[in-house]
Amino acid sequence: MLKIDRLASGYGRIKALHDVSLEVKAGEIVALVGANGAGKTTLLKAISGVQPIVAGQVFLNGVEIGKMPAHRRVRLGLTLVPEGRQIFAPLSVEDNLRIGAWTRASDVAGDLDQVYSYFPILNDFRNRLAGSLSGGQQQMLAVGRALMARPRMLLLDEPSMGLAPLVFKQIFSVLKSIRQSGVTVFLVEQNVNAALHLADRAYVLEMGRVTLEGTGRELLSDPRVQAAYLGV
Ligand SMILES: Nc1ncnc2c1ncn2[C@@H]1O[C@H](COP(=O)(O)OP(=O)(O)OP(=O)(O)O)[C@@H](O)[C@H]1O
Ligand SMILES: [Mg+2]
Repeated sequence: MLKIDRLASGYGRIKALHDVSLEVKAGEIVALVGANGAGKTTLLKAISGVQPIVAGQVFLNGVEIGKMPAHRRVRLGLTLVPEGRQIFAPLSVEDNLRIGAWTRASDVAGDLDQVYSYFPILNDFRNRLAGSLSGGQQQMLAVGRALMARPRMLLLDEPSMGLAPLVFKQIFSVLKSIRQSGVTVFLVEQNVNAALHLADRAYVLEMGRVTLEGTGRELLSDPRVQAAYLGV
């Protein structure tokens, strides 16, 4: 569904990604793990069109999208849950969700119900200001807002960041339901243990390059992953 071929990207003279190739097949949950500064966020931005690519190609269902503006990629079914959530704090929970459905004018009631069934607390707080929510609730809102765009493929940048274990377990369990509903998931995570347990396959990114790939299970038992990311 998503294929990245020898992608390079960066910020002026800073080269953040070198020759990155990877693939996410339809229906998979694929994780990308790596240390701080490895280039994980840059890769998600390059895929979603927020960050220009310098070389290489990005294919979504066989269509080359590497130069397409971000809003057109959303219409093709690619939606990013950004690092740090980026919710609209002065707006209500429900208005944040409605903004997620900007690609279509009407027909949002069913999608709202779906998001509220994944995250019932958002239904309870639908009229509250988003900025008054806890960190975990804001992360749920960020995921819910992305789902309102009816993605075929959901990109998530560190959804567990700063969350209590119970909260991120809930979010990870919703990711499984989202995949069951036919959405493909590409997930960047600093909680490597949880990510590799959730993912069908995963890639390790180090200093802007893919250095390892395998099934979640293979990487969990790989001594290099254990030493660098699992504290074994
Ligand atoms: N806006 C920017 N301007 C200049 N350099 C940047 C910018 N954003 C990131 N970088 C640099 O690009 C490299 C990759 O950063 P990136 O944010 O993609 O890493 P990351 O893997 O997401 O890290 P983290 O785990 O801390 O979120 C780093 O060297 C970083 O300093
Ligand atoms: Mg990052």
